[in-house]
Amino acid sequence: MRRDLELAYIVLEVPEPSSLDGLFSDVVGLVRGEPTSGGAVTWRNDDRAQRIVVTAGPANDATSIGFEVSSDDALEAMATQLAAIGFDVVDGSDDEIRARRVNRLVRTEAPWGMSIELVTGLASASSPFVSDTMPSGFATEGVGFGHVVVATTNFDAAVQFAIEGLGMQRSDSLQMELAPGIDLEVWFLHCNARHHTLALARAPFEVPQRLHHIMVETNDRDDVGAAFDRAWATDLAIPNGLGRHDNDRMFSFYVQSPAGFQVEVGHGARLVGEDWDDDRVYDRISAWGHQPLRQS
Ligand SMILES: [Fe+2]
Repeated sequence: MRRDLELAYIVLEVPEPSSLDGLFSDVVGLVRGEPTSGGAVTWRNDDRAQRIVVTAGPANDATSIGFEVSSDDALEAMATQLAAIGFDVVDGSDDEIRARRVNRLVRTEAPWGMSIELVTGLASASSPFVSDTMPSGFATEGVGFGHVVVATTNFDAAVQFAIEGLGMQRSDSLQMELAPGIDLEVWFLHCNARHHTLALARAPFEVPQRLHHIMVETNDRDDVGAAFDRAWATDLAIPNGLGRHDNDRMFSFYVQSPAGFQVEVGHGARLVGEDWDDDRVYDRISAWGHQPLRQS
């Protein structure tokens, strides 16, 4: 299985970047990074220079997802493979490389309408990661900064892009009736030991925001509970309270950002090893919990 690809960063474009400050800092426990060379706000969840980049603009969605490849050779091979199945791959400009704080960057367009950036050498921050609200920090070593879930009407092409283009593999999938007449299908894809780095949901119709949620995983189980208490003390919507997912067994909750997308704060997901043989179709999202608690 592929183990040389990690979620490096996500780029969000929202009308008011400061609207996310309270959620990211006070609830989730991320730490501000240095602004990019273009002036964008950045956030960290480990010793890397930036894991979330927030730009100002009308999209109100994620616009780019960065994946870090372990070597230039591996990056070249992925670029060649993407081109072979019909995707245009272009080299990032010097400005883009500087703004992303990476050594190399190539870019293509995913079928779900986001820029996918393959990078090497995401820089380290100038200071260690210290978060008052997340004292034990986040699990990122060898597994990237978290996971990303997107919804797309272009589902079949999206799956092909991720599996044939990026070399991801399916961990398992979810198929259930969300509400009468509304089916939910999600594929959970891995490219390292994290159960899923990317999940793709089949959207029944065009959705205004393709980013459903980003997930960060804490090192300490109690930090999830403390983050939940902090979320509860705000007036942010909590689409799903504490619970445990059936497939990756993550203990987590979901808080909704002022921009609409959600942040899942979790702990204790099981890892995918070389011997993974548990690719099956689940018919429920959670073993328990994740009840809808507070709507916006
Ligand atoms: Fe998730």
